[in-house]
Amino acid sequence: MRVTMIGAGYVGLVSGACFADFGHVVTCVDKDPAKIAALEKGDIPIYEPGLADLVANNVQAGRLFFATGQTEAVRSADVVFIAVGTPSRRGDGHADLSYVHQAAREIAEAMDGYTVVVTKSTVPVGTGDAVEAIIREVRPDADFAVVSNPEFLREGAAITDFKRPDRIVVGTEDERAGEVMRALYRPLYLNQSPLIITNRRTAELIKYAANAFLATKITFINEIADLCEKVGANVQEVARGIGLDNRIGSKFLHAGPGYGGSCFPKDTLALVKIAQDADSPVRIVETVAAVNEVRKRAMGRKVIAACGGSVSGKTVAVLGLTFKPNTDDMREAPSIAIIRALQDAGASIRAYDPEGIEQAKTVLDDVAYADNVYTAIEGADALVIITEWDAFRALDLDRVRALLKTPVVVDLRNIYPPQDLLVRGFTYVSVGRPEELY
Ligand code: UDX
Repeated sequence: MRVTMIGAGYVGLVSGACFADFGHVVTCVDKDPAKIAALEKGDIPIYEPGLADLVANNVQAGRLFFATGQTEAVRSADVVFIAVGTPSRRGDGHADLSYVHQAAREIAEAMDGYTVVVTKSTVPVGTGDAVEAIIREVRPDADFAVVSNPEFLREGAAITDFKRPDRIVVGTEDERAGEVMRALYRPLYLNQSPLIITNRRTAELIKYAANAFLATKITFINEIADLCEKVGANVQEVARGIGLDNRIGSKFLHAGPGYGGSCFPKDTLALVKIAQDADSPVRIVETVAAVNEVRKRAMGRKVIAACGGSVSGKTVAVLGLTFKPNTDDMREAPSIAIIRALQDAGASIRAYDPEGIEQAKTVLDDVAYADNVYTAIEGADALVIITEWDAFRALDLDRVRALLKTPVVVDLRNIYPPQDLLVRGFTYVSVGRPEELY
């Protein structure tokens, strides 16, 4: 099958490389000539484990191509994916669909023969209808179907998520398009991944509902963590105790500094807007978004409290800047709000992150970057762990104790057993767990 991806960003590139790996012939198209030139040389513009090898192998096998112009790639394609960005529109929180609409117009101009046009970008309910109307307007004679096929890829685990999905969701009422999508995903559902074919609007809503539910789970456990601190309970044990109930499930119950990233903050806000416009508000999701937003700065105050109520003139070492491990992505990372809160309170920040420093430099001012964990810590008044990179899970605690000017550790991801630090004389503060030995 011939597949064209419009947009060689995160979703387009991962999906394109994985489809090529299944044996389809894939062209990833992007308007940014620098990005395409880099990809052609084998330079991957994002950090995603396994992606560079996957791209290289499929380029070498003659199944994966890159292009800046889409005319030829669309003309010869059986399936064209729209995988362009849908940023939050400035001011109102709605998803900005101008790139999606533009892609639809350009696809319409170039398509030839029966073509399945698939929206993979996360788009508001009804966008499939709009894409169909645009194509119909540009090319009244075109033979095509518009399908919704949302992605559920997690950064850092995107290739595994693509190849072993919990489910594949396809939204179309067009039987022929349904068959094309089945053929495209055959390698996966032969592997027992359920394929749900539903109508287009339902598929569009599934994506938002899934992300909003996961964001709700995280926010719920974060509030329970705060309560644990007040009543002397342990949130990790609460999470285990409720998560073993199959109706609840154990995943996404890790308390922390609040969720970030390119999806949850944006998609929860977009769902709130969609629901308000439909006169059917989702108040739970409105609250989740609001609670998560204030939590990030509240974590800054937590650090200040751990430092005895003031960080003025102090140096705080920060380990982990990205919104989660195994990515270089800084979008909506809790570290941004936490660091700004600490700076506003007069602290100097020295930070280390295994992959995120280059991106961090574009969003954070006045941060000194260290090139490893221990140089970040040396002489600091406190250490704050914001992102749970594996490299931070087994620090030499005696060395940390010796390097810190004052032995204060704030672990916002609960990656250490409190006893390990308390017995060494640290002041150790984590999220939703007792601070005394017990
Ligand atoms: C998410 C969805 O998981 C994915 O299905 C969707 O397609 C895109 O959005 P991603 O943003 O890559 O993926 O990251 P994810 O692993 O879901 O984490 C999101 C945020 O929630 C991170 O900031 C993470 O630290 C936080 N999180 C996650 C928690 O604080 N606690 C948890 O238990 C899980």
